[in-house]
Amino acid sequence: MALILDGNAVSKAVQEGIAREFEKVKPTGRRPGLAVVLVGDNPASVVYVGRKKKACETLGFFSEEHRLPAGTPEGELLGLVRSLNQNPAIHGILVQLPLPGHLNPQKVIETIDPRKDVDGMHPFSLGKLVAGLPGLRSCTPAGVMAMLDHYKIPVGGRRAVVIGRSIMVGKPMAQLLIEANATVTVCHSKTRDIAGVVREAEVVVAAMGKPKFVTTDMVREGAVVVDVGINRTPEGKLVGDVDFDAVAPKASAITPVPGGVGPMTIALLMKNTYQAFLEQKGS
Ligand code: GUN
Repeated sequence: MALILDGNAVSKAVQEGIAREFEKVKPTGRRPGLAVVLVGDNPASVVYVGRKKKACETLGFFSEEHRLPAGTPEGELLGLVRSLNQNPAIHGILVQLPLPGHLNPQKVIETIDPRKDVDGMHPFSLGKLVAGLPGLRSCTPAGVMAMLDHYKIPVGGRRAVVIGRSIMVGKPMAQLLIEANATVTVCHSKTRDIAGVVREAEVVVAAMGKPKFVTTDMVREGAVVVDVGINRTPEGKLVGDVDFDAVAPKASAITPVPGGVGPMTIALLMKNTYQAFLEQKGS
């Protein structure tokens, strides 16, 4: 049976590390500030935003939530982002995705001051990632790397397969794995024989948003399986992109859903917010 990678425990450990660092600068009286913007009332987004706010409270970071109605015009949202860019109490800005259909997410992301791009999705942050320069990394892929690092699971020289090529997860995930010296293949909806490709992998990261897509016949014995998917079944149960019960006996390590990658995203958001705060100090 596989080692279950406990995202709640590792997320807590990462946040405790941030708390220890923050202790050292607390006497200055300054504190990191995160602004979270939520447009509409997507129930999953409401839950995620609540968790982000709670994590800030626990660490003693300043946070503010901006809830806008689903019909908010784009100009108004961009205006809010620009005012947050100018606000010295705010070091990180996160606009929760997905946005309602009439809003262009790319335009919104590009309006965020790259220094405050704690989501790591601005083209400037993504460019730095590809160039191998230090910068703010997307929280979920960075969370996956932190999880593997915590359990001392090596990726260097290993064959890794990422399923999914989104800007938020798949692409930055592949890039972080390359940076960690893995040999990386990215699969997507147009890939022929996905099962055959995934079977080659010593490390699998499933991030395409299809419930229980990765089945036991697709996974090689002893693979490390990371499940980024969060899907709700018609019965209301949360399941990942991996058929956990079937795949776990074959894997050497696996993340559950919930309690795997999800909590890591929050921890890395806090880490990015702290990093952005340190880098904006005095400016
Ligand atoms: N929606 C789901 N996960 C995320 C995330 O990490 N960042 C943003 N902005 N939206 C999300």
